[in-house]
Amino acid sequence: MPEDTFDERTAETYEAKWPELFDPAVVNPVVDFLADLAGSGAALELGIGTGRIALPLSRRGVPVHGIELSPAMVARLRAAPGSENIGVTIGDPELRRLPPGQTVHPFTVTPEHLGFEEYDVATQIAYSHHYWVVDGQLETRSTPHRYVWPAELDLMARLAGMTLHERWAGWNREPFTGESRSHVSVWRKT
Ligand SMILES: C[S@@+](CC[C@H](N)C(=O)[O-])C[C@H]1O[C@@H](n2cnc3c(N)ncnc32)[C@H](O)[C@@H]1O
Repeated sequence: MPEDTFDERTAETYEAKWPELFDPAVVNPVVDFLADLAGSGAALELGIGTGRIALPLSRRGVPVHGIELSPAMVARLRAAPGSENIGVTIGDPELRRLPPGQTVHPFTVTPEHLGFEEYDVATQIAYSHHYWVVDGQLETRSTPHRYVWPAELDLMARLAGMTLHERWAGWNREPFTGESRSHVSVWRKT
């Protein structure tokens, strides 16, 4: 496994380190949105991880398949009841480590968790740096992620024969604006 993927330790502590992601108030709107969208169809999740979303979505009756880079994350998924209904393909995106960019942006600042992105704007790679205090010990982790702008995704979708159908800031269909920190986009085959 490449050294910059989600390793055993990250997989083992994923829920403990990001408890807010597992809050039903966060998970349920995602699953509602996706189950509604899937209808009688299936779902493909890029970066399925430990199945935080895939497992409850599968339990709703939506056939789910995942693509995942990290065998450690998939091993956690496989340990969960219901994961036998979910197919996973291990994918290697050939992530490249590049010179650091100039832009740094904090996204989490709490007494237990400091996280910031370091952007290389030329290559559109964001390095996520995490510093956790776990049981009085410092744990750090840095991983590179390729980021895309909505307009770039729209172009990719167009090349794949799809057009934008909906774009929101979140799973509860909040309006998408220049201040939004996330987006939920739905493209349809045309
Ligand atoms: C932050 S975790 C999210 C996991 C899950 N989707 C969730 O919502 O809990 C990101 C996951 O995406 C995987 N990943 C990142 N880039 C990937 C890529 N290019 N191809 C496949 N998996 C990738 C990581 O290994 C990790 O398991």
